[in-house]
Amino acid sequence: MDSEVKQHSSGIYMKIVNLDIPVTADSAIVWQNETLYLLDQRVLPGTEQFIELYSAEETARAISDMVVRGAPAIGVTAAFGVVLAAREVFQKFGSKWKQHIKPLLDQLEKSRPTAINLSWAIEKMRTHIQELEDDLDPEAKLQKLAVEIHDKDIEDNRAIGNFGASLIDTESGIITHCNAGALATGGYGTALGVVRSVHAQGKLKRVYADETRPWLQGARLTAWELARDNIPVTLIADSAAACRMAAGGIDWVVVGSDRIAANGDVANKIGTYQLAIAAKYHGVKVMVAAPTSTIDMSLPNGSQIPIEKRAASELLSCGGQRMTPEGLDAWNPVFDVTPAELVDAIVTEKGVILNPDAEKMKNH
Ligand code: MRU
Repeated sequence: MDSEVKQHSSGIYMKIVNLDIPVTADSAIVWQNETLYLLDQRVLPGTEQFIELYSAEETARAISDMVVRGAPAIGVTAAFGVVLAAREVFQKFGSKWKQHIKPLLDQLEKSRPTAINLSWAIEKMRTHIQELEDDLDPEAKLQKLAVEIHDKDIEDNRAIGNFGASLIDTESGIITHCNAGALATGGYGTALGVVRSVHAQGKLKRVYADETRPWLQGARLTAWELARDNIPVTLIADSAAACRMAAGGIDWVVVGSDRIAANGDVANKIGTYQLAIAAKYHGVKVMVAAPTSTIDMSLPNGSQIPIEKRAASELLSCGGQRMTPEGLDAWNPVFDVTPAELVDAIVTEKGVILNPDAEKMKNH
């Protein structure tokens, strides 16, 4: 295994390694030999490299820096981050480890604000920590739970794929936004899980992937993982989506989500809202594919969902190259909220909610 250690601007070191495993979209999160490796999504598809993580602090940094991204993938990664946190505090403090783990879990939980899957996974790990004994090494038991969370996410995505595909007719054209694929989850994907299942059933004509400014998750990641699976994909600029719908042959917009409120309002990558408005105008249906771990029943509607705002520099530059005049201001919210009334179906591992509202969400 080759490796290179680079210092991040925050002062944290990130070790870049070339793992001796095939690089696929399903290998975005690898737990191997008691070590966490993340496929570095900042540099795909041009460079295929893994980052090796030793601590909860490095894991939190990797999440906020987008080494790993996508709501379920962030949750799975954080669960492994808790294992690293437990190792660290048990080695340092022995039977007093539980008193010292809290700030590390809080740091992990704050690494990105919108995806509820992050707090969902940490909460599961926290609950398990309460059940563990103070003077026994907690690592093996926490590792077992993190692996279960990872495996369950893949299983859920396969169920979502099948439920979603059951709504879609033959010869369908789909637009997707951002990357809600294997890379964004434990594996298989949510929105791209539906696409994979539709394709496997011979019903897919073509997927149009929005490029997804400014991180280009569509152009770099969705196009990469679909092309690798020989799924017919065409890239479009975000601003071309309405025009593509007007040209005909688009039946569904299929997207993932970072958080769904109790009334069915959906937070997802910035641009999803305008896509849903354009879809309504053109008679195209909108499907949101997400596991139930993405649903936040504590928030009555989408206006309470915390929306992450990232650095203006992400908009002002492209590929590290400044594209704009010096001193220009930029507004960079990276998620938006699509009202439930613009959503035709929310698909989870439990089934389908058509025309979601508070009542249907409660009974799901
Ligand atoms: O900023 P990102 O890349 O983490 O945003 C990801 C998305 O918006 C995805 O659509 C969402 O997390 C669902 S992933 C299955």
